[in-house]
Amino acid sequence: MLLNASGCLDALTAPDVARSLDVFVTKTVTPLPREGNTPVRIAETDVGMLNSIGLANPGIDRFVTRSLPQLEKLGVPVWVSVGGFEADDYAEICSRLDDEAEVAAIELNVSCPNVEAPVENVTRIVAAARLATRKPLWAKLSPAVPDIGEVAKAAQTAGADGLSLVNTVRGLKLDARTLRPVLEPGQGGLSGPALKPIALAAVASCYRATAMPIVGMGGIQDGLDALEFIAAGAQHVALGTVLFADPDAPSRIRIELHAAASERGWNSSDDAYAIAHEESLSLRTT
Ligand SMILES: Cc1cc2nc3c(=O)[nH]c(=O)nc-3n(C[C@H](O)[C@H](O)[C@H](O)COP(=O)(O)O)c2cc1C
Repeated sequence: MLLNASGCLDALTAPDVARSLDVFVTKTVTPLPREGNTPVRIAETDVGMLNSIGLANPGIDRFVTRSLPQLEKLGVPVWVSVGGFEADDYAEICSRLDDEAEVAAIELNVSCPNVEAPVENVTRIVAAARLATRKPLWAKLSPAVPDIGEVAKAAQTAGADGLSLVNTVRGLKLDARTLRPVLEPGQGGLSGPALKPIALAAVASCYRATAMPIVGMGGIQDGLDALEFIAAGAQHVALGTVLFADPDAPSRIRIELHAAASERGWNSSDDAYAIAHEESLSLRTT
C-alpha cells in the first residue's frame, strides 16, 4: 500500500492527491485544539526540510464532527494519527474513534524524541490505546532512541498491530547572516533525503526484532527509494516531504516502483519484501 506521511498532505485541499493513495493518514489529532508554534515553522536545508509545526490541529471534537465526515467522502480509507502528552490522552481519543466506521486504523504518534524512557513510554501509551479501541493500531516511532528494536518489541507486546517508521529527527538551521535559528522555536524535525538511511536502518532493526507489518517512510523521493524500504522489511511505504515539491509523486512513484521491480525480474515489488535480510546485514557491515 502507498500512504501519505502524517502532516504532509491536507486531503481536503488536495482531494485528488489523497485519492491517488491507498490510505490517507491525517495530521496528528490531540484531545484539545492546538495552534502549534509561531511562524517561521518550515525551513529548507541542503539535505531535507525542517519543521516545527508543533502538532497544530483542531482537537478531537472538531475533528470528529467536521473533518471526519468530509474525509469519508473522499472514498479512501482513513487512518487517524493520534497524539497527546499522557497515555490517557491517547486512550481518550482512541475510545472516541472506536465507533467511527470510517476510521480504518489509528496511528499512535508516540515519537516524542525528548522522552527519557522510550520503552516504558511506548508500553504505557500502546497498552492504554489497546484497551480503548478495537481498531488496528500502528505505533509510529522515533528513530532517536538507543535501540528502536526494543521499542518496537514493547509496542508489539502492548498490543500494536503494526509499526510506522520513522518520524523526524531533531535538526537546527541557522540564518546565514545573523547566525540565529531560522525556525521560531529554534530546533525542528528534519525530514527528507537525510532521513532515508536512518529510516532504512530503523525498518531493518524493527523487522528483525518483531517481524511486524511496517509502513516505511523517511526521504522517499522515487520508486527505487520505495523499493529499498520494502527490501529492508516494510510491507507498505508512505510519502512525506516529497509531496510538498511534487503532488503527483504517488502516481509517479507507483510507476517507478513497478519498473524498478520489473528491472530486477520481479512481477511485483512485493517480491522484494525483506530481501535485504537474506544475508545478515550485520555480517555485511562488519
Ligand atoms: C510539515 C510536516 C508535518 C508533520 N506532521 C506530523 C504529524 O502531525 N504527525 C506525525 O506523526 N508526523 C508528522 N510529520 C512527520 C512525517 O509524517 C514523516 O514521519 C517524516 O516527515 C519522514 O518522512 P519524509 O522524510 O518522507 O517526510 C510531519 C512532517 C512534516 C515535514
